[in-house]
Amino acid sequence: YIVTWNVGSAMPPDDISGLFVPRLGDGSVDMFIVFQEVNSMINKRLKDVLFTDQWSELCMETLSRFGYVLVASQRMQGVLLLVFSKFFHLPFLRGVQTQSTRTGLGGYWGNKGGVSARLMAFGHPVCFLNCHLPAHMRNLEQRVEDFESILQQQQFEGGAAVGVLDHVVFWFGDLNFRIDDYDIHVVKSAIENNKLPLLWERDQLNMAKNSESILDGFLEGPLNFPPTYKFDVGTHTYDTAKKRKPAWTDRILWRLRSTGSPVPSHSAALVTQHYYHSHMGFTVSDHKPVSALFSLHLQFPFKVNLPLVQLEVEKEWTKVSDATARFTIISGFQRSSWDWVGLYKVGFKHYKDYAAYVWAKSDHSTQVTFPEEDLPRDAGEYILGYYSNNTNSIVGITEPFQVQLPVCTPPTPRCPSRSDSSDVSSEDDSTLVLLGPSSRSPSPRTRSSKHHHNNPRRQRSRSPSLSLRPRDVPARSTSPRPASANAKKERLVSPDTITSPSLSPLSPRSPLSPGNGVSAPEALVVAILGEHRPPLGPITGVGAADRAGDVKL
Ligand SMILES: *[C@@H]1O[C@H](CO)[C@@H](O)[C@H](O)[C@H]1NC(C)=O
Repeated sequence: YIVTWNVGSAMPPDDISGLFVPRLGDGSVDMFIVFQEVNSMINKRLKDVLFTDQWSELCMETLSRFGYVLVASQRMQGVLLLVFSKFFHLPFLRGVQTQSTRTGLGGYWGNKGGVSARLMAFGHPVCFLNCHLPAHMRNLEQRVEDFESILQQQQFEGGAAVGVLDHVVFWFGDLNFRIDDYDIHVVKSAIENNKLPLLWERDQLNMAKNSESILDGFLEGPLNFPPTYKFDVGTHTYDTAKKRKPAWTDRILWRLRSTGSPVPSHSAALVTQHYYHSHMGFTVSDHKPVSALFSLHLQFPFKVNLPLVQLEVEKEWTKVSDATARFTIISGFQRSSWDWVGLYKVGFKHYKDYAAYVWAKSDHSTQVTFPEEDLPRDAGEYILGYYSNNTNSIVGITEPFQVQLPVCTPPTPRCPSRSDSSDVSSEDDSTLVLLGPSSRSPSPRTRSSKHHHNNPRRQRSRSPSLSLRPRDVPARSTSPRPASANAKKERLVSPDTITSPSLSPLSPRSPLSPGNGVSAPEALVVAILGEHRPPLGPITGVGAADRAGDVKL
């Protein structure tokens, strides 16, 4: 499910769940991909640095309540890309890499360019590319050129899928294509009289698809919604001030992999678009959001879905001695002395949003035990995830299990007395920075004692009414955030103080790049996205299901 929305300098409305309906609550969506263009003025950006960006937080807050976690994020000035997935797909989304490209001479365009995230989804290369292309009617050629240079510049490391077009591509964003020729009255009256097909013929992107070879293979569903730009903010009325011609600036396209690409042919995929529409109800921006729902049908000759690490855990944790997990490593998978097992409360936001963690030291043991003082005080559903330092990702996950540990009196390290935990709480320092490529490295070793987390689990509000108050603690520690409070001193030490990574027998000779991390036996982790999805009526007609369905790779 892909959403693209240029929100300009608008503050988020209280509730954005409407962006994801009707598919948010029913569990039928495996991944949500959100693109936003947010105002990139300097003062705004400084503020974003301090408070993190509120749009991203709101997306994360909204989607995590339904079991989606942030898998990748990339930001280039105001151009933001967020990729969310159901948490139980995490072990099958590998080799996540992101890229960004600024276009325009000497940054002339400022906030224009493209950001992308690629990953192997169940062994299949998928790339989400969003672009903010130059504005104005006259810049058609510049838009196409910029797109071309973004495609050329974005190259990923390792594996067979190196260029964007070696992947199944979803291309979206404020592409800024306009409606040519007709004057504003013709355009408006076509919209009012529901004669949209008349305008399709003059849409610059539709026309360019016939003439520009760089657009070959890109498909788009029918534009059965009115142009999404430009509206008077706060209304459903097209621009009255500058009288700009309405246009379908906000688009979502897809493209199957080039047949000549070097990726093994056993992993062919088909894409079906189920719908493509706009969300006219949102009025905070001069653009309306556009969303589309797709199924990616992966064609494999056989079907396996083995995670690299299999975790076993008690069905319930009712006493401290239950807090143990055993794991089995698939042969060929390289552990690192920096691997760890995280305990996550269901509803967690990303892989660093754990309630507790314990190092999975790479001696030959295949068992970890959580110390009593780390165990969560609040009951609920939790999962365990095995984090691999070599792949920078969660490679194994358990089913949800119940944690309900006895309340202890008198106070113990796990249950300190009330007064111990009365300091200020920072609700959550989950940020994009934590997940950016440059910050994937930190492992959970530094426990910042400056941040007095007052059992964040208790403070965490899951109520649908989301508060957007700027946080008063600009906590941006790059270490995974300590889960429960002051009870945890510097108990866990960095593994490098125990075993120097270079001396550890199991540490790799050279650190693997995320790309190389994909080299794990992809063939063993095969599954089909969205198998269980309820049947939806695929759109038939121009460029949608019909055309996609005919293509076999
Ligand atoms: C763990 O990952 C980080 C960053 O990717 C790297 O610098 C470090 O060397 C890795 N440690 C080991 C033991 O592989």
